[in-house]
Amino acid sequence: MRTSIAIMAAGFGTRMKSKKPKVLHEISGFPMLHHIIKEAGKISDDIHVILHHQADLIQQMMNVHFQNITYVMQDHNNFPGTGGAIMGVIPKYEKVLVLNGDMPLLEAEDMKAFFKEDAKVVMSSFTCSDPTGYGRVIMDETHKVSKIVEHKDANSNELKVKNVNAGVYLFNTEFLQQNLPKLSNNNSQKEYYITDLVSIANEQNIEVKAVDIDEETFMGVNSKYHLSIAEILMQNRIKKRFMEAGVAMRLPETIYIESDVVIEGECVLESGVSLIKGAKIINSIVKTNSVVEDSMLKNSEIGPMARIRPKSVLIDSKIGNFVEIKKSTLNGVKAGHLSYLGDSEIDTGTNIGCGTITCNYDGKEKYKTIIGKNVFVGSDSQLVAPITIEDDVIIASGTTVTKSVKKGSLAIARTKMKILDGFFYKFFGKNNA
Ligand code: UD1
Ligand code: MG
Repeated sequence: MRTSIAIMAAGFGTRMKSKKPKVLHEISGFPMLHHIIKEAGKISDDIHVILHHQADLIQQMMNVHFQNITYVMQDHNNFPGTGGAIMGVIPKYEKVLVLNGDMPLLEAEDMKAFFKEDAKVVMSSFTCSDPTGYGRVIMDETHKVSKIVEHKDANSNELKVKNVNAGVYLFNTEFLQQNLPKLSNNNSQKEYYITDLVSIANEQNIEVKAVDIDEETFMGVNSKYHLSIAEILMQNRIKKRFMEAGVAMRLPETIYIESDVVIEGECVLESGVSLIKGAKIINSIVKTNSVVEDSMLKNSEIGPMARIRPKSVLIDSKIGNFVEIKKSTLNGVKAGHLSYLGDSEIDTGTNIGCGTITCNYDGKEKYKTIIGKNVFVGSDSQLVAPITIEDDVIIASGTTVTKSVKKGSLAIARTKMKILDGFFYKFFGKNNA
């Protein structure tokens, strides 16, 4: 589609009560601004982001994932307000869609609704029971939008209007450029309002069309309370899509899935599961309260209460409770209980006994543990890396393995056990018997 998009993100976000800029607060793992840029990118290659407050930080964060964004600095001192925000934008195309950086739930499909209207000014509105804070959409007797009045500027009749401005607009670029200089700050906030372009259009007999939108989707996040509501809405959306694609979820409202997570095939997620930072789950079962971060699970079962930390790959494996895995590849492995496996590669048929620890860190560097096929690691063993345990090895329970072990061997390191008959009575005395 030949349209430009301007995303306003220069406000102070005072109501967030945070040192972090409003648009960098995260929903489902990504900053709010990230979500809207990603969706905008699906319909336009000319995206302008308007910044002012903490502009460098915001730009730096967005540069991680997005190239080809035009950043526009708002002259906030001289032209504060949403009208001031848009003044520095030079759109490439004939139309420009204006979005807010704090609308994380808006998707490309919702944006497309604006292009169905053939008008030089298209705005968005919805009806709500409590319009407090919103600009009121004032219609004339023929139901044509005549103007938008901000809450702070509205008279008592206008305050009663329940039809409000959602804050997204599609403008003809020429109309915008000709009329932005006509905005004034003659209002209670001494700001330049983008909303005044509606009455300016009317004065020129240019028709303004209003698109009815869904209040939830167009929700603007202004406070941490709003943030929590938007998070629930986005989570519901993500989970619904996966469930419709065949993923089973037990008590889905307790499950958290970030927006870049991939789930394929037939998977089961039990209650309290967190899938974060691009976790990829294929034909697997993730049991209660397990966490998978930036890792891949294929034909595997983990948990309850397993933690799979970044850069791990689990294939055909079974991981039980209180097992932590980090930066490790497990292929056909069982680790049933209470273990830490970090910086390791473990091969088919190997069983990791309860309480096994890869000692991968000496306080300075991290080292690898490589374990071959069909190895039986007895319970309560420590594997001091760097170390290689070849195929068909038995590690006796309680062994601290400090040397690599050759194929087919037994590794055992224990002090010889002694039994002293009657020692109890000698130590505590006969009366304690
Ligand atoms: C705005 C609308 C209001 C509408 C509401 C919908 C105006 C004057 N009012 O009010 O009619 O009902 O949105 O949510 O437009 N921003 C800048 N520069 C600024 C000020 C704001 O870039 O100088 C950005 C903010 O970062 C934000 C967006 O513009 O992303 C909206 O600003 P905000 O202060 O939240 O507008 P509202 O007062 O909610
Ligand atoms: Mg405002």
